[in-house]
Amino acid sequence: MRVFRASRSLATVVVVVVVAAMLSCVRAAGDTYLIGVGKADITGPVVEIPFHGYAVLSQVGTGLRQRLYARSFIIADAANPADKFLYIVVDTQAGDTATRLGVLEGLKALGGDYAGFTQKNVAVIGTHSHSGPGGWHNYLLHQIPVLGFNKQSYQAIVDGCIQSVKNAQASLTKGTLTVGTGTVQDGNINRSQWAYLANPQAERDSYASSTDTTMTVLGFKRSSDGKNMGMLTWYPVHGTSAYNNNTYVTGDNKGVAATMTEQAYAQDANSAPGFVAAYSQANVGDTSPRVLGQWCDDGSGQQCSLEASTCADGTVTNCNGRGPFFEKGDQGLSSCYEIGRRQHVAAKSIFDSLATNGTPLVGTSVNSFHFFNDMRYFQFQLPNGTAVQTCPAALGYSFAAGTSDGPGVSDFKQGDAGLPNAQNNVFWQAVSNVIQTPSAQQVACQGAKPILLDVGEMMAPYPWIPNIVDVQLLRVGQLVMIVSPGEATTMTGRRWKAAVHDAAKTSGVTGTGVEPIVVLGGPANSYSGYIVTPEEYEVQRYEGASTMYGKWTGPAYMNLTVSNINYLAAGNTGSPSQTLLPPDNRGVSLSFIAGVVYDNPALGKSFGQVLTQPAGSYARGATVKAVFQGANPRNNLRLGGTFAAVDQLVNGQWTQVRSDADWFLTYTWTRVDGLLGSSTVSLAWETAGDGAPAGTYRLHYYGDSKTPITGSIKAFEGVSSSFTLV
Ligand SMILES: *[C@@H]1O[C@H](CO)[C@@H](O)[C@H](O)[C@H]1NC(C)=O
Ligand SMILES: *[C@@H]1O[C@H](CO)[C@@H](O)[C@H](O)[C@H]1NC(C)=O
Ligand SMILES: *[C@@H]1O[C@H](CO)[C@@H](O)[C@H](O)[C@H]1NC(C)=O
Ligand SMILES: *[C@@H]1O[C@H](CO)[C@@H](O)[C@H](O)[C@H]1NC(C)=O
Repeated sequence: MRVFRASRSLATVVVVVVVAAMLSCVRAAGDTYLIGVGKADITGPVVEIPFHGYAVLSQVGTGLRQRLYARSFIIADAANPADKFLYIVVDTQAGDTATRLGVLEGLKALGGDYAGFTQKNVAVIGTHSHSGPGGWHNYLLHQIPVLGFNKQSYQAIVDGCIQSVKNAQASLTKGTLTVGTGTVQDGNINRSQWAYLANPQAERDSYASSTDTTMTVLGFKRSSDGKNMGMLTWYPVHGTSAYNNNTYVTGDNKGVAATMTEQAYAQDANSAPGFVAAYSQANVGDTSPRVLGQWCDDGSGQQCSLEASTCADGTVTNCNGRGPFFEKGDQGLSSCYEIGRRQHVAAKSIFDSLATNGTPLVGTSVNSFHFFNDMRYFQFQLPNGTAVQTCPAALGYSFAAGTSDGPGVSDFKQGDAGLPNAQNNVFWQAVSNVIQTPSAQQVACQGAKPILLDVGEMMAPYPWIPNIVDVQLLRVGQLVMIVSPGEATTMTGRRWKAAVHDAAKTSGVTGTGVEPIVVLGGPANSYSGYIVTPEEYEVQRYEGASTMYGKWTGPAYMNLTVSNINYLAAGNTGSPSQTLLPPDNRGVSLSFIAGVVYDNPALGKSFGQVLTQPAGSYARGATVKAVFQGANPRNNLRLGGTFAAVDQLVNGQWTQVRSDADWFLTYTWTRVDGLLGSSTVSLAWETAGDGAPAGTYRLHYYGDSKTPITGSIKAFEGVSSSFTLV
């Protein structure tokens, strides 16, 4: 009996195991694609250039906390490798026309497999960090707060993007793709609830939150040895954790998350070397990482008003969003670090359960379409048949007020009749005579928006803003990626994703009998402000005032993507027809940023000489610091290298254990004497949070000086005395 029972239960076990194996087979039965992942450094000039995002002219770089990267993902049809697309996530405020053109030209010049990357299938998406050097935008309005177009800043991004594509191409191999979703707790908050409340009650009631809390993860696994190559995630939260007075280059919260995830999988036996984790931005428009809400910093202890984000004095000046560790500033374990960590924890947990909870992509076809649409009086029909139109770009008055994440354009002051304060900015002095009075047609078209800047009708000295924008969808299997040129708000993103989902399902372009999955990435390709819902537009808060093509901007994008969904069908090689192309302003753009003249050490000193040594010993948790005789880091960006390192003494050998890519090691450059050209560099290692073990260490500075007269660039190094961490 016992034997019989035992064998019966053994049989049961065997059956269970077989069924489980079959189930896991069913789960894992995704189709095979050609997949590649790659990453490269895009860190431009870290000093003397204003940052792009907050539009605060005084937010000029003084150093580096974290390097910036481009992360590229190639997905191709394994049977027809020419059917492919490239999704590049860059640690910048947005993907934009000039950088995308530069990337396309660079890929074309490389030829071979790279020549197959064209307008149609290349998407460039910004993480929306507000803490990177500016000077790479194609249009005048976005050049003004950063003093123009800076060739070095632009080229660093373009070169880094191309290098990341090369790295992705080098890793290209057969593999599978799996999608998973999960929730990020306390990673974002709505920052324009008053506008959100204008959306229909029934629609709002169908969602648990007034921001999207879902993170979507796409896992890349190669077939050769079953190892994980990387992940691409989508989750909406503004890259505004670091304050608008931060002057250290960082990738903001998504830069932190990406680094943490890559470091976690670098030590994982199931991962291939060079694991790449990218945190794509999503329907970010009305989200904030300041998750404790919006408060009046005027001693009142009150929250800002819901309607206008104002405080007791009736202005927005004292209204600031608060991140989880808002009192701490931007150093060390800051709000930025914490919001990055929260995204990393969610992404890792979703990724680690892809094998059991994920949805494998099925359907071998990979397809995409792209075209430029002129938004000036573009006429179309809403789904209910009503004829509407978009307008030439314009910005409303609330644009000037900014948000609780930071002010808008600093040169605008409310109550200033909307005109910029020309004395503050050489750029405004050069262009303020071309401020346009909007035409009657434009005023009527923009409807509820009182026009502050009629940027879409301002063409001198070159166009101020895009009127011609990118419309693009990418597809692999049942997954469709909407590539949004603007910052779609929460509800816009939901409606847009639902419209594309329904169209994909009805048309069957993503396969029959399989539920389409739709994600939205942006701001991408040509930065074109915000995209609110028509109801939110009527409220004209900051996001509505920055929805440039009028009330029907969002429905227009939905019409344009949905009407062309059939171009995603398997085997389709066509593209929507193309009329006007956007202007390329790279060759004509103004620049008011001077180059490096020369460097000299202070009298009696030499480059790299240590001016202040660290102490001999520190308790773990302390900040270690050394000061060196320096030179301007704009002389050599050291892309893929470092300006700063921590070396550890291991078995009598100095080994680099931290670089300037590490959050807790900062690099600060200070101009000491402009005439002589002397400067200092200080390296600081915040060992609190870093987790470094006790040991013997030293700080190491890598610099490059520019010789007077000849202009030649010479590399040098500086090494501090050693210290112990106990
Ligand atoms: C939305 O914003 C309001 C007002 O700032 C705030 O009270 C609420 O907690 C927020 N809700 C979510 C889910 O973000
Ligand atoms: C930077 O801005 C934040 C938020 O407004 C403020 O709390 C902090 O004191 C500022 N830091 C400096 C150094 O001015
Ligand atoms: C988009 O608008 C056009 C009119 O210009 C209309 O014919 C078409 O049906 C609309 N498409 C969708 C998907 O609503
Ligand atoms: C069609 O939809 C728009 C937007 O929701 C609305 O403003 C308009 O009144 C609707 N038209 C009709 C005829 O229902």
